[in-house]
Amino acid sequence: MIFDSHAHYDDEAFDGDREQLLTSFKEHGIGRVINVGASLESCKTTLQLIRQYPFIYGAMGVHPSETGELDEESFAWLCGQCTTDKVVAVGETGLDYHWKEPEPSVQKMWFERQMELAREVKLPVIIHSRDAAKDTLDMMKALHAGDIGGVIHCFSYTKEIAREYLDMGYYFGIGGVITFQNAKKLKEAVEYIPADKILLETDSPYLAPEPNRGRRNTSLNLPYVAQKIAELKGISCEEVVEITERNAEKLFLGQ
Ligand code: NI
Repeated sequence: MIFDSHAHYDDEAFDGDREQLLTSFKEHGIGRVINVGASLESCKTTLQLIRQYPFIYGAMGVHPSETGELDEESFAWLCGQCTTDKVVAVGETGLDYHWKEPEPSVQKMWFERQMELAREVKLPVIIHSRDAAKDTLDMMKALHAGDIGGVIHCFSYTKEIAREYLDMGYYFGIGGVITFQNAKKLKEAVEYIPADKILLETDSPYLAPEPNRGRRNTSLNLPYVAQKIAELKGISCEEVVEITERNAEKLFLGQ
């Protein structure tokens, strides 16, 4: 069944029909979902979701654009949540220079702290890197990120950069963007990345694939993403679902 490795079902976009939507997943072939924390508040709601739904797992982290809210006290709280049952990753964390807020030095400090946290609690990291390819790579190399392991969520860089992450043993989260007509470089990268390093993800409620681009995204759209990856890799859609599910089990559930 489909494993959605990155979603935000705590988002207010789902306030009207969350329960109904989430309980419909099984009959639509969605087996498991990782709900990813992006702020202290969303980490709290993620913890509620993983308690409530057996098929939802959680990641604890603060998105680079939200790192201004962190201090020693709140970070200690975050660290404490990482040993909770069904918390399977630290993230999302990383660098976002599209929105240079807070300033890079602040983003970098909390990126490093969250990487070290992941190392300490022995969980993989979910990395968000936007318009910050060089700094992300430089930091990951300096921190020996290969020993920690994880996924580059919503991978949006070139095949050359993919090679660098592959050398560190990282996985690549591929979502709706792969179906966009102008995603030429990403399509090249996905052709290049071995299937056993690809994870399916939505980033719900964002980044819905064609033909639903611009609308609210949910895991129910993942067959469109799997289909596009299947075309690029020359395998069947079922194989993409199977392989990516196995990859996610290996990375997050240690199976
Ligand atoms: Ni996200």
